[in-house]
Amino acid sequence: MAKAPSRAKVAILISGSGTNMAALLYAAKHPECPYEVVLVGSNDPAAAGLQLAKAEGIATFAHPHKGMERAAHDAVMDEAIRAADAEYVALAGYMRILTPEFVAQWEGRMLNIHPSLLPKYKGLHTHERALAAGDSHGGASVHLVTAELDDGPILGQMSVAIIPGDSADTLAARVKFAEHQLYPTILSDYVSRYDNPDWLLAKVEALALALPETHARTSHGSPGFRVGSEKTGKYFAYFADQHHGSDAIGVLVKTGGMDELETLCEQQPDMYWKPAFYGASGWVGLRLNRPGVDWDHVREWLERSWRAVAPKSVTKLMDVAAEF
Ligand code: GAR
Repeated sequence: MAKAPSRAKVAILISGSGTNMAALLYAAKHPECPYEVVLVGSNDPAAAGLQLAKAEGIATFAHPHKGMERAAHDAVMDEAIRAADAEYVALAGYMRILTPEFVAQWEGRMLNIHPSLLPKYKGLHTHERALAAGDSHGGASVHLVTAELDDGPILGQMSVAIIPGDSADTLAARVKFAEHQLYPTILSDYVSRYDNPDWLLAKVEALALALPETHARTSHGSPGFRVGSEKTGKYFAYFADQHHGSDAIGVLVKTGGMDELETLCEQQPDMYWKPAFYGASGWVGLRLNRPGVDWDHVREWLERSWRAVAPKSVTKLMDVAAEF
C-alpha cells in the first residue's frame, strides 16, 4: 500500500473574527489537503475564532500582549507554536507588528494574508484607499513574511471588482470571499512545493543557468542543461520527473565514476538514486522531492558536474573569478 503522505503542520495566528482561519481549517478537513492545523493562537483571549477552533477540536492558545514588551510577547507565541510542533505559521488577521527576531525564526515558513493587491496599500485601511484612488479592483495577497511590513515575496493574489456604490465595508466583505479561496490554495501549494515538478525545475534551472556559458536544451523530452556553444555544448545536468517508474523528482549529475555512484546510493538512499540508462555511465540522481533540500548542496553538485564537462577555457575563467 502506498505510504500516506505526511501533512505539513501549520499554526494559525489570529486577532479577531478568524474567518480566514476558519477557511484554512475547513480546507484542511479535505483528506487530500497537504497541511493540517495544529494550533490556533491569539494575542486576544476573547478572539471569536478561538472558540470555533476549539469546537473543531484544534488546540488553541492565547496570551494578551498588554503590558508586555513586543519581543517578550513574540517569544511567548513562538514557544507555543514550537510546542505544537508546527512547521509553518499562517498569519490570518493577526494584527501585531512582529519583531525581526521572531520573523527570522520563521523565515520562509511564515505566510500572511493582506487585504489589497500588494504592493499597493500596505498597512491599514486598504479598502478605503482603493476606493479613494478610484481603482477598478481591490483584492487580496498572500505573501511570505519578512521584517518589513506587508513586503515579503508574493505567493498569490486574487483581484475583486469594485462595484459602483461600494463602501469600504461592502468591498471588505467581498474581498473576504476571495481571501477564503485564496489562502487555503496558496498555503497548500506552498507546503507541497517540494513535490511540485514545476517549482523544482524552476529552482534547478535558475542554479544551472547561473553557471557560465550554459543553456537549456530538451533531451528525450526532459529538460537538460549544457555548457559550451549551442553547437558543440555538452550536457552537465538533466531534470528527471518520475522517470521509468521511479517516484523521484530530481536532477541527474555526473559523478566521478561507478564506485562513487554506488557508494552514494548505498549510503544515502533518501538523497541519491541510480537512474535508469544514465546510471550506467556514472550519472547519479539527486532527489529533490523531499523536505529540507539543501540548495547550496544542489548548487555544488551542478557546479561539479558542469566542471567535469566544461571546456578548460571556461572553467579557467571561473577559477580566476573565484580568486577575487
Ligand atoms: C482579513 O481581511 C485580513 O486580510 C486582514 O484582516 C482580516 C482578518 O479577518 N489582515 C490584515 O489587514 C493584515 N495586515 P478574519 O479575522 O475574519 O480572517
